[in-house]
Amino acid sequence: MEGFYTNDFAKILIDENELNGIVDRMAKKISRDYEGKKLLLLGILKGSVVFMGELMKRLTIPAQIDFMRVSSYGSGTNSMGRVNIILDLLRGDLDTCDILIVEDIIDSGNTLSYLVQYLLNKGAKSVRTCTMLDKPSRREVDFTPDYTGAEIPDEFVVGYGLDYDEDYRALPFIAVLKPEVYEK
Ligand code: IMP
Ligand code: MG
Repeated sequence: MEGFYTNDFAKILIDENELNGIVDRMAKKISRDYEGKKLLLLGILKGSVVFMGELMKRLTIPAQIDFMRVSSYGSGTNSMGRVNIILDLLRGDLDTCDILIVEDIIDSGNTLSYLVQYLLNKGAKSVRTCTMLDKPSRREVDFTPDYTGAEIPDEFVVGYGLDYDEDYRALPFIAVLKPEVYEK
């Protein structure tokens, strides 16, 4: 492992090859399930951008894309359990859209359970969820995503879109951050 951040990582949890395999498998399944529907991939900024880009170019069916930005974390590594909408989804055709929310990681479950209900209340035709990573042991609300790339243990991870205080997002792999980096 080389590069400027190397000393910040306890280990590489999922390397680039393995991530490619995960996204291939998810894209195949989504392409089958959404055949004939009006699929709207709804990426949650900023963490989903790498995963969403990799996922959308592998789909074998038409898809539109859109984004929302929400915050449930202030900064650092602890959830605050509240969801603020910073960038909303503004379009007039939600009643015809089969929305697939694309998330980087599910932790407490607060963000996605809130967003699913929010979009249904706005009149979306259907709303399902797709996450690259899931930490099921951290749930605060009962929530199960429709598509999951990989379940991981309760460790703080970065890379492939995921950040710690806005750093590490551009890395092509998922790494476990050394606790001393965020306990400083
Ligand atoms: P939830 O609402 O608690 O499920 O929070 C999900 C959000 O928390 C994700 O979209 C991430 O922004 C953030 N998050 C949770 N765990 C991690 C992690 O291990 N690394 C980086 N961000 C994380
Ligand atoms: Mg996020």
